[in-house]
Amino acid sequence: MTVEDVPYVAALDETIFEDPQVTIEDRIVRFEEELARPFAVVLVAEQEMTVEALERNEDNIVGYLLAWSTFDEAHLLNIAVSEPSRRKGIAKQLLDAFLTHEKFRDLHLVVLEVRVSNEAAKKFYEKEGFVLSRTRRSYYPDGEDALELVRARSEGDA
Ligand SMILES: CC(C)(COP(=O)(O)OP(=O)(O)OC[C@H]1O[C@@H](n2cnc3c(N)ncnc32)[C@H](O)[C@@H]1OP(=O)(O)O)[C@@H](O)C(=O)NCCC(=O)NCCS
Repeated sequence: MTVEDVPYVAALDETIFEDPQVTIEDRIVRFEEELARPFAVVLVAEQEMTVEALERNEDNIVGYLLAWSTFDEAHLLNIAVSEPSRRKGIAKQLLDAFLTHEKFRDLHLVVLEVRVSNEAAKKFYEKEGFVLSRTRRSYYPDGEDALELVRARSEGDA
């Protein structure tokens, strides 16, 4: 992701993770901060703009992935794909790009949290070989529990 992409990624983030408490300006600042962190990576997925996509007022950035390298682990903080672009393999492409990224190549474990109610994401991670490590009670600000999922790096990842 480049600094020019930040407003578009922030807008995408707002449509996917609605939260009246978080303004678009907050989201822009957050992604600018992520870009500046040496241990963070934000990857974006872009689509070819078709006439239909333009008519639907879609942007060419249709997904993003945010991850941190922390000690010997990769922490996958978020992965998100715009609703019209789902079930086309975009999240899988983002995950594969992250797993082969130079910043994460030597890390042994990928860790993430997912809401217990997030069936789509749980199915996605399960298919991608993530397994349950533990339940983190009241992990989210609204009190919902998180499942901590992990995936050991295999040789095929790099
Ligand atoms: C979870 C999410 C990122 C998946 O993105 P996606 O681009 O649609 O995923 P893919 O097309 O790469 O899916 C790969 C596989 O994951 C599984 N999967 C993905 N979404 C699924 C769903 N809604 N129901 C069941 N399985 C699903 C399927 O096995 C799918 O393969 P298939 O389409 O051939 O059956 C997307 O639904 C999303 O952005 N959700 C909102 C944001 C979010 O909750 N992010 C996770 C935060 S932890």
